[in-house]
Amino acid sequence: MSSGCPMAPGRRQVLTAALGSVGAAVGLAACSDGDREENRNAAGSPGQGGGRTPGRVAFSGAHQPAITATPVPALASLAAFRVTAQDRAGLTEMFAELSTTVADLMAGRMPESRDPAYPPMETGILGPDPPPDDLGIVVSVGASLFDDRFGLEDRAPRELVTMPFLANDRLDSERSHGDLLVSIEAQHDDTIQHALRQIMRATRRHLVLAWTGEGYARGSEGAGQQTPRNLLGFKDGTANLDSSDAELMQRHVWVADGDDEPAWSVGGSYQVVRVIRMLVEFWDRTRLSEQEAVIGRHKDSGAPLGGTEEFAEVDFSGDPDGRRTPLDSHIRLANPRTAETADQLMLRRGFSYTRGVDKAGQLDQGLAFVSYQRSLSTFLAVQERLNGEPLEEYIRPEGGGFFFALPGVEDEDTSLGAALLA
Ligand code: HEM
Repeated sequence: MSSGCPMAPGRRQVLTAALGSVGAAVGLAACSDGDREENRNAAGSPGQGGGRTPGRVAFSGAHQPAITATPVPALASLAAFRVTAQDRAGLTEMFAELSTTVADLMAGRMPESRDPAYPPMETGILGPDPPPDDLGIVVSVGASLFDDRFGLEDRAPRELVTMPFLANDRLDSERSHGDLLVSIEAQHDDTIQHALRQIMRATRRHLVLAWTGEGYARGSEGAGQQTPRNLLGFKDGTANLDSSDAELMQRHVWVADGDDEPAWSVGGSYQVVRVIRMLVEFWDRTRLSEQEAVIGRHKDSGAPLGGTEEFAEVDFSGDPDGRRTPLDSHIRLANPRTAETADQLMLRRGFSYTRGVDKAGQLDQGLAFVSYQRSLSTFLAVQERLNGEPLEEYIRPEGGGFFFALPGVEDEDTSLGAALLA
């Protein structure tokens, strides 16, 4: 993990030179808080839940650590950008500015103050000593970055395409796709807004914000529950992959050598975002037995149908006709637990969102489904099986996109995207 202070040269010097005198201080982090830095990684921390001290997520690593960091913070935000850089040199500057800012934010380093005749380098919304707050930031690229603007046409991850209309989709172009996606998580909203504004401030020459999506990842902690509930009232994440299991992540999440992918992409991951509205008024008028049949789990406990334990093993082998767990229930289609589908697993890291009310007086809320997988074909196979599932009547995918989360970097002086642009 980063050494904090003193700051190493390298990328920061390059950036400073590129920005000229006014922007020079962007890369010059104050060192005062170096020793209180509490670096944490994906391994999680003891005493999660009530009373724990939020910590720092590492910036560097073989993979972007925020993809697997635990605990999953309470709040999340997605910010999709259009790259307005004119050429490869501008794109390189953008990645350098972005990486420096993300590294500083995640380490809690503040820019130096400067002459009051200039606008301050800091928004100031977290004061002079930002708390760690489990801030995690992931940088991903979209298929459109590999068009003819930057000479990257032959460097795209092999499966990366613009997200097509999938079953049941009503994609809103104003909330879909993007050249670049920044995913931000933290325990408090001001930490997220601070990160977004510092990122936009540092990259405004080359990035324009296209759309955002904000929400919360946890249900009520007060209820003492481990697994958060989504806005349908069901526990969401019960059968998710354990992100602290490095071997599991290597098998299902990270692109590896020999995957028939460009060498630069090894260590990265395909990221799928599906902004899925839930028709909650309709759902709330649906019988409990029907709701449970649609999902394939009990609502209160999260247990497989017919069971009482949330984490009991799901076994469909004694139920070939779907008498206990309907054949078209969400979990049975998503993961039929057959030999052929055993490898089609993904890491889900979605969150709930609420966007007020629509013109018809209906609540506009749902799930920002986010998944990371080693191959996009894994997601597409699961999505294909879900095509036509009864849950479709209660949901409407409205936005999102397919992205590729960049591989991690060894140290803070290497820019995210350096391997892509090399
Ligand atoms: C609003 C839309 C969705 C809702 C409300 C929803 C809800 C749920 C719930 C309640 C579970 C069971 C608890 C758990 O194991 O996490 C679940 C599991 C799962 N969902 Fe979804 N989901 C949605 C969309 C999707 C999409 C778009 C995909 C992928 C294409 C997906 C893939 C999965 C997978 C892989 C599982 C785990 C199945 C297992 O291994 O048992 N879900 N979902």
